[in-house]
Amino acid sequence: MSRFTLPRDIYHGKGALEALKTFEGKRAIVCTGGGSMKRGGFLQKVEDYLKEAGMEVELFEGIEPDPSVETVMKGAEAMSKFQPDWIVAIGGGSPIDAAKAMWIKYEYPETTFEDMCKVFGLPKLRTKAKFCAISSTSGTATEVTAFSIITDYSKGIKYPIADFEITPDVAIVDPELAHTMPKKLVAHTGMDAMTHAVEAYVSTANCDYTDPLAIHAIEMIQEHLVKSYNEDMDSRDAMHNAQCLAGMAFSNALLGIVHSMAHKTGAVFADLGAHIIHGAANAMYLPKVVAFNAKDPVAKQRYGVIADYMHLGGSNDDEKIELLIKYLRKMNDDLNIPHSINHYGPDGLPADQGFVPEDIFLERLHDIAANALLDACTGSNPRQPSQEEMEKLLKCCYYDTDVDF
Ligand SMILES: NC(=O)c1ccc[n+]([C@@H]2O[C@H](COP(=O)([O-])OP(=O)(O)OC[C@H]3O[C@@H](n4cnc5c(N)ncnc54)[C@H](O)[C@@H]3O)[C@@H](O)[C@H]2O)c1
Ligand SMILES: [Zn+2]
Repeated sequence: MSRFTLPRDIYHGKGALEALKTFEGKRAIVCTGGGSMKRGGFLQKVEDYLKEAGMEVELFEGIEPDPSVETVMKGAEAMSKFQPDWIVAIGGGSPIDAAKAMWIKYEYPETTFEDMCKVFGLPKLRTKAKFCAISSTSGTATEVTAFSIITDYSKGIKYPIADFEITPDVAIVDPELAHTMPKKLVAHTGMDAMTHAVEAYVSTANCDYTDPLAIHAIEMIQEHLVKSYNEDMDSRDAMHNAQCLAGMAFSNALLGIVHSMAHKTGAVFADLGAHIIHGAANAMYLPKVVAFNAKDPVAKQRYGVIADYMHLGGSNDDEKIELLIKYLRKMNDDLNIPHSINHYGPDGLPADQGFVPEDIFLERLHDIAANALLDACTGSNPRQPSQEEMEKLLKCCYYDTDVDF
């Protein structure tokens, strides 16, 4: 038996934010990040609409990018004081993910972070509150997914919490929120969405319900991401939908080792003063993983189908895969994303000398690879790498060398 779960309602299109006016409840806590939603006037709108719906509203602001376990615990405390029956999270993946984890702790105060990380092991939520997610970036699709990514900074590791219990009740996908994204954020989040769709399509958990969503998302991202990056606002709107479709696919089909590697390299060099931003990590690793996974015959055929839908040409699967890799790399060039960690600057842009020195990378390689193998996304990857292969793959991602194993 398989399960396919999405939010009960997805409000989409310009003005979708107004759906908040129809919510029924007594108290809503609004969780958000560092200020982009306030500056854009969206936070005020959310507050106004919820008040119009007759609710008392409290704000929990300042959730940082790549949110920490500590922030989750603080937010849950605010929730237990205020006792909301609606949790409304607005912003990028970070504040929405943090709010999802806060929700678990609010409903079950005894739960530890370790408990939360047991894959598909959460108790029933919604005994106290329902959850609405409003995305302002076009990438993570956390507004429709069963995932939340929280960083344990004491270990430098990002942990995915995975359970359909945290699939939001309501998603609001209003493209106006994405208009204020700076170009770099468009690039990174857009390639995150592309990775979601490609990984979902070749995942071992793919199915008839997820395939059309993944393929249509890939087609839309091919058509619109670079245009959106170059400030075409119609394409920006289309990308907001495309990333959500990719999310519907991967929330049910799961992901693969591009994400395992991104999760385990993201914060592990934080002591050097920077993160490898999630979407940029995916963008760099995806072409390498396509080459690695293509040794699996089913994955190979499926990448071939993706290349066909993208009209890349090629007369057999080997040629199609080569063209797909070339195309993804060209997208990175068009979006000013580096190809490898050794050229990943502290600001996420290509640099002659990346912020991760070779000796430190090699010193930490064994542990990063071991952690990536243990990541929740590894199980559904079409080809299971050994420790040695994972290390080799990560080296290809560091030096930008070809994957020939
Ligand atoms: N839950 C999931 O299914 C899932 C999937 C993929 C990634 N993630 C996680 O999500 C996080 C990344 O989320 P993200 O890429 O959406 O970025 P983010 O939420 O970390 O935000 C990045 C920055 O962009 C700003 N920002 C957000 N929206 C903006 C807008 N419209 N205009 C201007 N600035 C804006 C934020 O204030 C922040 O400074 C990572 O922790 C990643 O691991 C989660
Ligand atoms: Zn992702």
